[in-house]
Amino acid sequence: MTKKLWGGRFQKGMDKVVEDFHSSIHFDQRLYRQDIRGSIAHARMLGNQEIIPAADAQMIIAGLQDILADIEAGKVEFDVSAEDIHMNIEKLLTERIGETGKKLHTARSRNDQVALDIRLYLRDECTETRQLLAELIKTLLDVAEENLETIMPGYTHLQKAQPITLAHHLLAYVQMFERDRDRFADVARRLNRCPLGSGALAGTTFHLDRQAVADELNFDSITENSLDAVADRDFAIEYTAAASLTMMHLSRFCEEIILWSSQEFAFIDLDDAYATGSSMMPQKKNPDLAELIRGKTGRVYGDLMALLTVMKALPLAYNKDMQEDKETLFDAVDTVKGCLTVFTPMIRTMGVRKDKMRAGASGGFTNATDVADYLAKKGVSFREAHEVVGKMVLMCVQKGVSLDELTWEEYQACSPAFEPDIYEAIKIEKCVADRHVPGGPAPQAVRRAIEAARARLC
Ligand code: ARG
Repeated sequence: MTKKLWGGRFQKGMDKVVEDFHSSIHFDQRLYRQDIRGSIAHARMLGNQEIIPAADAQMIIAGLQDILADIEAGKVEFDVSAEDIHMNIEKLLTERIGETGKKLHTARSRNDQVALDIRLYLRDECTETRQLLAELIKTLLDVAEENLETIMPGYTHLQKAQPITLAHHLLAYVQMFERDRDRFADVARRLNRCPLGSGALAGTTFHLDRQAVADELNFDSITENSLDAVADRDFAIEYTAAASLTMMHLSRFCEEIILWSSQEFAFIDLDDAYATGSSMMPQKKNPDLAELIRGKTGRVYGDLMALLTVMKALPLAYNKDMQEDKETLFDAVDTVKGCLTVFTPMIRTMGVRKDKMRAGASGGFTNATDVADYLAKKGVSFREAHEVVGKMVLMCVQKGVSLDELTWEEYQACSPAFEPDIYEAIKIEKCVADRHVPGGPAPQAVRRAIEAARARLC
């Protein structure tokens, strides 16, 4: 049995099976960079405060830098019996620089150490996730700009509703992904406080300079309560919640990509590099990627539920249950980033079948509201106009024609308010162009929205 760093009070070594069970090194080794960075800041402060001799602090810092370089070069093998990344690095340090290495953990606990590591890790991951979202937004704006006049049907209940443009549809997602970006910024802002100095739960008797450590690690401030600082993982839950919302948005978009690439819709062609074939059916081209992202959404929701459940009803302060935060959090981070990484080029490379979209907008009486609006503008009450046009649609369905195929005599018979300009008023292009209210689908309104979104990106 190997001797533990905390072994003084024990008369026996740990059972081997227990050791494997409770060790977290196989997943928390991902935090080595943050752990070493935090330890360097802590050691420097211990030296500056003369809590340990300055020369010892220098030796510890140099030793930690060597360990970092060796880990990055793939020269370090971690030890399961040293339990987690924190004790693995301390053990390596002591093996390398001797007794002085044992001074590093002065005025520190793994509880404030792990809280620090996750915060440092997530702060960077928020930046990376935001960057991936920015690339997606930029791509959507580019594709939108090319499709300001690409008319397509807009849907409610997946029934054709009113004509819009592809640009307008894409801009809806731009809004969603912008809010997602904001949420990750918010997560990073709230977590950006340094917990070191909180100790195991009750701070420390050493005269630390917590602010100096916070400054070195680029935190906005220090945490204000030692119990809270080591006991909560709400920042991990917040990230996963923001990731869940991003995945929810992606899953809706993916669902549409899947529908649009079906033969029934045929609105888009996925690039060959972003589609798959079938092992049996030679003709198939499947939107697997979009389906996989849709599927992975469930996985991130699961991560969120797992984190919430791990933290539920835990008494203050640290409990070992909290070691379960990492795999779920890492999974959420990897999944949302992985999905964004493939989704963006899939959108950038897809072919848009403008003819099919335009044809789709013509069927299904998507200009019926415009006929009703026409009557309302001529003084008929909207409710009355709605009734008249409903009857006209029924007549069209029975005759198998569209509204613009009705004869002038038929229009006159339906309402005396119609004038010959009705045919012009209900052209699909005009129906779209007239909706230039801010936030509407008219090309000029969407162009303004694109410009505003681009300005927000810089
Ligand atoms: N590996 C532990 C975790 O991830 C580090 C903190 C352990 N602290 C303790 N007192 N057992 O949560």
